[in-house]
Amino acid sequence: MEAFNHRLVIFLFASAILIKALEANIAVFDEVWQKRAEEAKKAANEAYNPDPENVAKDFNRRIHEDSETNSTRRNLRKARKGGPCLATNPIDRCWRCRTDWATDRKRLAGCALGFGRRTTGGKDGKLYVVTNPSDSDTVNPQPGTLRYAVIQPYPLWIIFAHDMVIRLSQELMMTDNKTIDARGANVRICNGAQITIQFVKNVIIHGLHIHDIQPGNGGMIRDSVDHFGYRTRSDGDGISIYGSTNIWIDHLSMSKCYDGLIDAIQASTAITISNCHFTNHNEVMLFGGSDSYSGDEKMQITVAFNHFGRGLTQRMPRCRWGFIHVVNNDYTHWLMYAIGGSQHPTIISQGNRFIAPHNPACKEVTKRDYAPESVWKSWNWRSEGDLLLNGAFFVQSGSPFTTRMNKKDVIKAKPGTFVTRLTRFAGSLDCVPNKPC
Ligand SMILES: *[C@@H]1O[C@H](CO)[C@@H](O)[C@H](O)[C@H]1NC(C)=O
Ligand SMILES: *[C@@H]1O[C@H](CO)[C@@H](O)[C@H](O)[C@H]1NC(C)=O
Repeated sequence: MEAFNHRLVIFLFASAILIKALEANIAVFDEVWQKRAEEAKKAANEAYNPDPENVAKDFNRRIHEDSETNSTRRNLRKARKGGPCLATNPIDRCWRCRTDWATDRKRLAGCALGFGRRTTGGKDGKLYVVTNPSDSDTVNPQPGTLRYAVIQPYPLWIIFAHDMVIRLSQELMMTDNKTIDARGANVRICNGAQITIQFVKNVIIHGLHIHDIQPGNGGMIRDSVDHFGYRTRSDGDGISIYGSTNIWIDHLSMSKCYDGLIDAIQASTAITISNCHFTNHNEVMLFGGSDSYSGDEKMQITVAFNHFGRGLTQRMPRCRWGFIHVVNNDYTHWLMYAIGGSQHPTIISQGNRFIAPHNPACKEVTKRDYAPESVWKSWNWRSEGDLLLNGAFFVQSGSPFTTRMNKKDVIKAKPGTFVTRLTRFAGSLDCVPNKPC
């Protein structure tokens, strides 16, 4: 009897941990995961900028400087030998018109702007070439596979030997200091499980096609060379960012996932999502998963130069708690609304183009949940220089963004009328070595 009780106590204790961790798909929140969670929290505190307006300002200044210096002309000249190149925004202009992108891939590591600008990914590591698209063993992945590459305990710059379709049989568990760089190959992550960036620092994901992602069944999955464990069913997001810091997602083409295309939750911060092309999906991006999780106050995310295209419904993004800078994106399609949220996030929308759908009931860009106007009127949701078309309107609240900024430093994002040009090359690019991309 005593032994039974003893076992019962252990069982109750274990299931308490289990329940707490279930949300994170970690079935057993063992010492390894506990340590990672602690380190992730520390990294978020370090990366969090107590003065986010300054980061937004800096971003705007860069866009402005860039467009003032004839740089398109300059880049056209530079690229003439290898063919035409029209780098149309300051992130792309950092690398796209160079003919040596294939031999100088790590140049990309210095190109991020916005809150994720310090992301360097696998810059300090070797190149790793993925040659094998299979994913048959999630506990002992074969060398040459993407799963093998992303769990190595040192920085790696991961590239692909040729075009490939990768169906992940379970979540792909990323580790610190990795770049997944699909330039030069058509790489599709599809019809399988998601990419998971959980309690991780410093990841660049560039140039992939990600579509038709399904929930993973869960099971034994290796998450580093010296640790694996049982994970519960995964959500079926395209990319799930959980308690992670310094993440840059650039030039992805994403569509039709089971849950969100990109979710960032549990105090993830220092993130930039840029130059992506999103299509055919309901709930596009979720920033902050719970109204009761105040840890998401640390969340700082830049959403820039993306094209929110055909077949999208809502959440571009849907925000809670954090500070979100939405700048120079092209919103050509939505069925319900574009930008929404609850629990007083700060949303600074600058120089975007919003084209409302024909449905007269869905002309509003914004949507606020779970709060009466008397409450949300103090949330800082601001629109500056946005181009609002076909009856689109942005309901602002809170106080003007600029009043808290040093006037001398206020250089605006490019106006919304420039957006088609700035986002012309959104999505995965077809890059050929020795030519501008
Ligand atoms: C831009 O280019 C034109 C023609 O090449 C030149 O006359 C002008 O001074 C340039 N402007 C700047 C800001 O460099
Ligand atoms: C990742 O890079 C940082 C900065 O170079 C380094 O301090 C850290 O130890 C690296 N982590 C791993 C797991 O390689």
